[in-house]
Amino acid sequence: MTATLVRDALGREFTDDLARLLSWVQGEQGCPLWPPVSSHVAWMDGVATGAVYRNGQFQIECCIVSPNKFITPHVHPDVDSFEVALAGMAFWHMNRPVVTLAEVGRARADGVSPFAFGCIRVERDEVHHGQAGPEGGLFLSVQRWASWRKPTTIADCWVGETMGCDMPAHVWEIRVIGDTLMDIHTRWEDKTEGHRMSGYFDVLIGAFSLGDGFTVVRLDSQHFVLPGWDTNDTRGGAGPHFDVVFSRPGIAELSARRLWEKWRSR
Ligand SMILES: [Fe+2]
Repeated sequence: MTATLVRDALGREFTDDLARLLSWVQGEQGCPLWPPVSSHVAWMDGVATGAVYRNGQFQIECCIVSPNKFITPHVHPDVDSFEVALAGMAFWHMNRPVVTLAEVGRARADGVSPFAFGCIRVERDEVHHGQAGPEGGLFLSVQRWASWRKPTTIADCWVGETMGCDMPAHVWEIRVIGDTLMDIHTRWEDKTEGHRMSGYFDVLIGAFSLGDGFTVVRLDSQHFVLPGWDTNDTRGGAGPHFDVVFSRPGIAELSARRLWEKWRSR
């Protein structure tokens, strides 16, 4: 049997057990790491992700979660995935506990998490959430992205409650004055300052209008859409004006995209 030979970037050759481990990591039969050169790492509100494999629409991200971090309920509308527990991570799938925090604290006699490589399938639009244990959480996200979407980080394809100010929501606080006048205070979730504007409610069409000719369309009791409202000033005025869907905070956010698609296809 020939010894595994590994050559490092300095041209040095190794055949010891550490070299054998590295050979497995690099080998086609082991764990093929195939990292992309862009959109490969992200940090978001106590969660760090690194893409260790990307090939076409397939991707594997290693996710590191800070101690005791709660990952709020969410869906990934354009990604079908397996979430693979490595250690210290509790998961819920459609509100059903898959791995609990009490279980996360246990370890096998050899120190390995009893849930290492246990996984849950998370199909598009399936709500899931998580919780890291006191030493933090580690899991792999093994993904297939929809054909129409270029893979980046899974955090870019997130619909759900925000986890913190790295992904702030645009908050509108609306006060109705009399029958038709609306006083609207807008701000980003992580800012205390914003600006005020007025709206005018039209009871006949069940909508309200803003200055500049914008009319807000009511989707249901918890959502409205502002067609073409997107402030592309954050992109230097370049690119399209997207529709913006507003949702009551929380779980209602999960159905915002579906309602918008239904409205757009009328
Ligand atoms: Fe997720």
